[in-house]
Amino acid sequence: MVIYYSKSGKTKVFAEELSKIVKKSLFDLAEKRPHVGIIGSVIGGWESLRKKESEVKYLPDFKGVKKVYVCTPIWAGQMAPSVRYLMNHAKWAGIEVNVLTTCRSVSSCQKYADSILDAFAAKGCVRGKAYGFVTAGKTPIDRQAIKEQMEQMITK
Ligand SMILES: Cc1cc2nc3c(=O)[nH]c(=O)nc-3n(C[C@H](O)[C@H](O)[C@H](O)COP(=O)(O)O)c2cc1C
Repeated sequence: MVIYYSKSGKTKVFAEELSKIVKKSLFDLAEKRPHVGIIGSVIGGWESLRKKESEVKYLPDFKGVKKVYVCTPIWAGQMAPSVRYLMNHAKWAGIEVNVLTTCRSVSSCQKYADSILDAFAAKGCVRGKAYGFVTAGKTPIDRQAIKEQMEQMITK
C-alpha cells in the first residue's frame, strides 16, 4: 500500500507513480481539518516543528498488508502533521514501512527521510528503506522525470 499526504500536489504525483512501480494501492490521508493556502502552510509549519498531529478522516486498513510506503512532504524538517497522526495511531507490528519524502532542500532531503524512517521504526514496524526526493523548481511537476528518477531508486 502507498499512503500519502500532499498539500500542493507534488508528493501526490510521486505517490501515484510509486504505486504503479511497486503495483500497490494508493491511500490518501485526508485531514479532518485540511491545511489550506498560505495560512495552512504557516500553521502546518508551526505544528510540524512542534511534532503535532493533524487528525485524518480514515486510517488505512492493514488487513492482508505486509509492506507500506509512507509518502510525506517535509514541513519544517519534519513529517507533515497528518503523517504523524498515522504514525502514532496505526498498528505497525509486522508491517514493513518504507518512507518517501519530498522537500526543496537538496542537502537535507535524504537526511529527513532517514529520520522519519527512524521515527516509524521506533513505533515497532519492520524497517524498510527511506527515499528523499527534491522537488524545488519543478513546477509544474514533470511526471515523466519523476517516474524515471524513481525507477532508478526504488527497490521493490
Ligand atoms: C509548511 C511548509 C514547510 C516546509 N518546510 C520545508 C523544510 O523544512 N525543508 C524543505 O526542504 N522543504 C520544506 N518545504 C517544502 C516542501 O517540503 C516541498 O515543496 C514538498 O515537495 C511539497 O509537497 P506537496 O506539494 O505534496 O505538498 C515546506 C513546505 C511547506 C508548505
